Amino acid sequence: SQAAPTLCGVPLKYISLVTLAVQNAALALLMHYSRISTPPSRAYSAASAVLATELLKGFISLLIAFSRVELTPLQYTLAPGHSPSPVAKSALHPRVFLARCRILGKEVFRQDCWKLSIPAILYVIQNNLQFVAASNLEAATFQVSYQMKILTTAAFSVVLLRRKLTPLKWLALFFLALGVGIVQIQCGAATHGSSSATVAAGDDVHTMVPFKGFLAVAAACFTSGLAGVYFEMVLKNSTGDLWVRNVQLSLFSLLPALVPVILAPSASPLAPAHSVPSITHLFANFTPWAWATVLTQVFGGLITALVIKYADNIMKGFATSLSIVISFLASVALFHFHITVSFVVGASVVLAATWLYSQPDGKRVPFFRARRSS
Ligand code: C5P
Repeated sequence: SQAAPTLCGVPLKYISLVTLAVQNAALALLMHYSRISTPPSRAYSAASAVLATELLKGFISLLIAFSRVELTPLQYTLAPGHSPSPVAKSALHPRVFLARCRILGKEVFRQDCWKLSIPAILYVIQNNLQFVAASNLEAATFQVSYQMKILTTAAFSVVLLRRKLTPLKWLALFFLALGVGIVQIQCGAATHGSSSATVAAGDDVHTMVPFKGFLAVAAACFTSGLAGVYFEMVLKNSTGDLWVRNVQLSLFSLLPALVPVILAPSASPLAPAHSVPSITHLFANFTPWAWATVLTQVFGGLITALVIKYADNIMKGFATSLSIVISFLASVALFHFHITVSFVVGASVVLAATWLYSQPDGKRVPFFRARRSS
C-alpha cells in the first residue's frame, strides 16, 4: 500500500484537518465582522462575494488539475484503444467534462459531469445563506448552530446512501440537536437586552435578527447535508480526479451564482436601476474584510476537497467542532461576546455529541470489558 502523503514529516491528513478547523473559525469571524462593521447602506453584495469565490476556486482547481495533467499525462489521455496524441495531452478542456467511470468492471470515459450540477446549485444556495446567518447571529452562535449539518448529513446518508446508523450514533445526534437548542435559547434571551439587536428605527446601523439567522442556518444545514451526500455519491460511483471534479463543481456553480447578482443589479446605491451591473458596481463596498472573507471561503473549499481526499467526513466533523472552541474564544476577545452558562452548556453538549458521533462502530464499552477480563 502507498505511504500516506506528508509535508515536513507530518501527515497531510492532520495538516488539512487542523487547517480546516482554523479556516472554519476564521471564516465565521471574518464573515460576521465584514457584515456588521458597515452600515446597511454600505454593505457589500453577498451574491457578488459568492460569485467571486466560485470563480477563484474554479480557477485555482483548474490550475491544480492542469499541473496534474502535465505530471501524469497518461491518466488523462484518450480512452483505451486510442493512442495518446500531443493535442490530447495538452488540451485540458475535454478532460474537465469527462470522468473515468467504472461500468461492468471496465473503466470508460463518460460524460457524467452533469451530476455535479445538483451539489453545485445546493452549495451556491448554502454559501448565500451563510451570509444571511452570519449577518444576524453572533459568530460563535452561528458556528454552534451550523453543527446541525451533522444531523442533516446523517439523515441524507440513511435515505440516499442507505447507510445504517448504530443506536450510539442516533444518541449522539439527539444530543447534538439538544445542544444546539440550548444555545438558541441562550441567544434569544441574550438578544433581548443586546444593544446590537435593538437599534432605533431609521438609524443606518446594522441590526441583527436572530430568528432570521436561525432560519438561514437551518436551511444551510439542509443544503449542506444534501450537497455533501450527493457529492459523496458522485465521487464513490466514479474514479474522476478530485480537482477535475472541483472544476466541474465550480463551472456548474457559475450560473446559479450569477442569478442573484443579475436579479439585484443595484448592489451599490450609485448604480442606476435596471442597468446591467458593471464590475465596479458588482464589487462596490468590498472592504479588505470582505475580500478576506472571499479568500477564506476559497481556501475553505480547497481544504474541504483535501480533507475528503486525505481524511474522511467523520474527521471533518471533529475539525469543525474544534473550530467552535476557536471562534468562541475569539468572539469573547474580539466582539466582547458574553459568556453565559447556557452557551457553555450548549456548546459543550455539541462538542461531546460530535465526539460521540465520531466513535468507530462496533467498539462499545471496551473499557469495562477489558477490566472484567483482566
Ligand atoms: O459546511 P460544508 O462542509 O457543507 O461546506 C462545504 C463548503 O465547501 C461549501 O462552501 C462548498 O462550496 C465548498 N466545497 C468546495 N468543493 C468541494 C466541496 C465543498 O468548494 N469539493
